[in-house]
Amino acid sequence: MSSPVAGKTTLIRGRLLSFITEPESPDDRASYYYEEDGGLLIRDGMIEAVGDFAQVSLGIGEGAEVIDHRPHLIMPGFIDAHAHMPQMQVIASYGAELLDWLNNYTFPAETEFSDAEHARRIAGHFLDTLIAHGTTTVAAYCSVHRVSAEALFEAAMLREMRIVAGKVMMDRNAPDGLRDTPQSSYDDSRALIERWHGRGRLSYAITPRFAITSTPEQMEMAGALASEFPELHIQTHLSENHAEIDLTNELYPDCGDYFGVYERYSLAGPKSLFGHSIHLSEREADAMSNSGSVAVFCPTSNLFLGSGLFDYQRYRKRPKPLRIAAATDVGGGTNYSMLRTMDEGYKVIALNGEKLNPLAAFWQITLGNAKALSFERQIGALQEGHEADLVVLDARATPAMSIRAERIETLAEELFLLQTLGDDRAIAESYVAGKAMKGKAVQA
Ligand code: GUN
Ligand code: ZN
Repeated sequence: MSSPVAGKTTLIRGRLLSFITEPESPDDRASYYYEEDGGLLIRDGMIEAVGDFAQVSLGIGEGAEVIDHRPHLIMPGFIDAHAHMPQMQVIASYGAELLDWLNNYTFPAETEFSDAEHARRIAGHFLDTLIAHGTTTVAAYCSVHRVSAEALFEAAMLREMRIVAGKVMMDRNAPDGLRDTPQSSYDDSRALIERWHGRGRLSYAITPRFAITSTPEQMEMAGALASEFPELHIQTHLSENHAEIDLTNELYPDCGDYFGVYERYSLAGPKSLFGHSIHLSEREADAMSNSGSVAVFCPTSNLFLGSGLFDYQRYRKRPKPLRIAAATDVGGGTNYSMLRTMDEGYKVIALNGEKLNPLAAFWQITLGNAKALSFERQIGALQEGHEADLVVLDARATPAMSIRAERIETLAEELFLLQTLGDDRAIAESYVAGKAMKGKAVQA
């Protein structure tokens, strides 16, 4: 199968599935668009037409390439709302809860990202691994080093990927070689914003790691950046682990509670992504929803680090629902796959006595995450004028999936099988800006 050439028209054929609204049940037929024999016309990385294959193929010019993915399912590429690029070599680190895991494994690994060569090597692997797992957009943390963010933006630019990323700001409670200062974190973030934000498909996120590793002076600087660049995303961690919450309250005794720290420094709002948000008080949940802030559900990480059970339905069913995103949180998270993430997510929600229906799970990792990142006009749906980021899903990718698939009758059942047994083997192809990219080597 060859990749489309820039400027050329490509017609992709397969079963199309794209969500319109958040599905309320497995039978919520009005929540999605589905085309059994669908066609997607792609030109210059954009979706030019969507519909029935026969209709879309009418009038396409000579020389248009047709790529037939039948009987696979074609959806918008998956979106991962929180992952750490410098933690590829931290996944599978044994036996610690959050603060020890950071000190013993994560901080030593991140220290090496002062080396531009190392940063470039891992950044390329990071994006290629995400693409191989069907993820075409990520909101990513880099290390404290400016070169690590340079490396990730360069790698994303080469792959024409839409990403959000930022250099972590951290000036205390971290080892030598992994701390900046309030001023240097401001200067480096600003230089990165000026160089990368808005270039191609790239967005910068102001990234104070979490309250524990920033002094109040640094939080002021993060707030200053946020008021100078109000369109930017902000990403940080919130209320993940009890020891973390206690230490935060000790370090910021005047802020009332953990979310209050971020409010104090003007870091809450509709572009703010709060990783974990597990142990929120009612006041914090209210304040988050009133500010439009996003709570990021990271089930594989929350289970792996023993952090707790994110109460998805409690947050969703509040009088004013919280905005929710889903994410891997690699390398606290244990898999790059959003299918594996939602499988674990389903189990976490079940432990809270609730259910997440399969349509809602796939809405979450496509249109739901696009909305949480305020990217719903660009990605997250198969729609004319949207960017052509796609995932092609094979529900019979393994012998075990194939046997189970024999008894499947509905789309919701097929999705639930993909989520429960699927991983990167179920990704038949990933398209980034209209180009087939799974397993493709990208030259720097
Ligand atoms: N809190 C602060 N930094 C991190 C991190 O790298 N991973 C997780 N899971 N939580 C954090
Ligand atoms: Zn994280």
